Amino acid sequence: MNAGLRVKNLQMHFGGIVVADNINLSLEPGDRKALIGPNGAGKTTFANLLTGNLTPTGGSISLDGMDIKRMKESKRVRAGVAKTFQITTLFRHMSVRENIRLPILERMGRGMRMFKRADSYPDVEEEIEQMLSQFNLQSLADVEVHELAYGQQRLVEMALTMALKPRILILDEPSAGVAASDAHIITDAIENLPDDLSVLIIEHDMKLVFKVASRIIVLVNGAILCEGTPGEISKNQQVRDLYLGARHDG
Ligand SMILES: Nc1ncnc2c1ncn2[C@@H]1O[C@H](COP(=O)(O)OP(=O)(O)O)[C@@H](O)[C@H]1O
Ligand SMILES: [Mg+2]
Repeated sequence: MNAGLRVKNLQMHFGGIVVADNINLSLEPGDRKALIGPNGAGKTTFANLLTGNLTPTGGSISLDGMDIKRMKESKRVRAGVAKTFQITTLFRHMSVRENIRLPILERMGRGMRMFKRADSYPDVEEEIEQMLSQFNLQSLADVEVHELAYGQQRLVEMALTMALKPRILILDEPSAGVAASDAHIITDAIENLPDDLSVLIIEHDMKLVFKVASRIIVLVNGAILCEGTPGEISKNQQVRDLYLGARHDG
């Protein structure tokens, strides 16, 4: 009954600035929710509160009914809450395959062993193949990350994060910086995620949001303005005036 992530009356202040203002939100298995809002609305801060990168000043966060508000980020990842890696954390001079191997070994507690080659675990190699196939990266498996197009690097980030086998996945602007002509590879990757995963997507690209999200939450000045289906949100006059209207002029 309590499966998933629940945020109640979450608050975050930076000095006198309220960045999370009584946020209530839940992520259940299979959810595809998008968090949208103008720059500075507090979206990234909210993501950081979920992952444990920041500690809220008030409210509660629970995972499957367990209070995780004070749980450290590394422990929260092991509990199943993960945000995508940043490109800056990829090993640029290692291949895609070698990059994906690292979080798998890490998750299995088989990090760097002396006298044991990193690629000598058949189960790990099989899992890498699955990730490569899930993210359509087979043909790039042995290419070094720095040689990839930016959109493909962002796919590798997603693959690395999924290698941790999260149950709750937070994507903070997965298509930011990706060429418009490559945006579909990000959309495809999100659509290919396991059905039972809970996904929260923070994104400016409305085409992507409307394609992948079944519910949209609009955040303004740290507070939820409204939540609804893509159809409801696109018709909401307040949202059009405040956010979508400005973007979709003409
Ligand atoms: N570490 C911090 N210290 C102080 N203010 C911060 C910090 N992080 C973010 N902020 C402020 O919080 C507000 C929300 O920022 P952010 O969460 O990055 O918004 P968004 O991701 O929606 O653009 C902004 O006004 C930003 O300046
Ligand atoms: Mg942000």
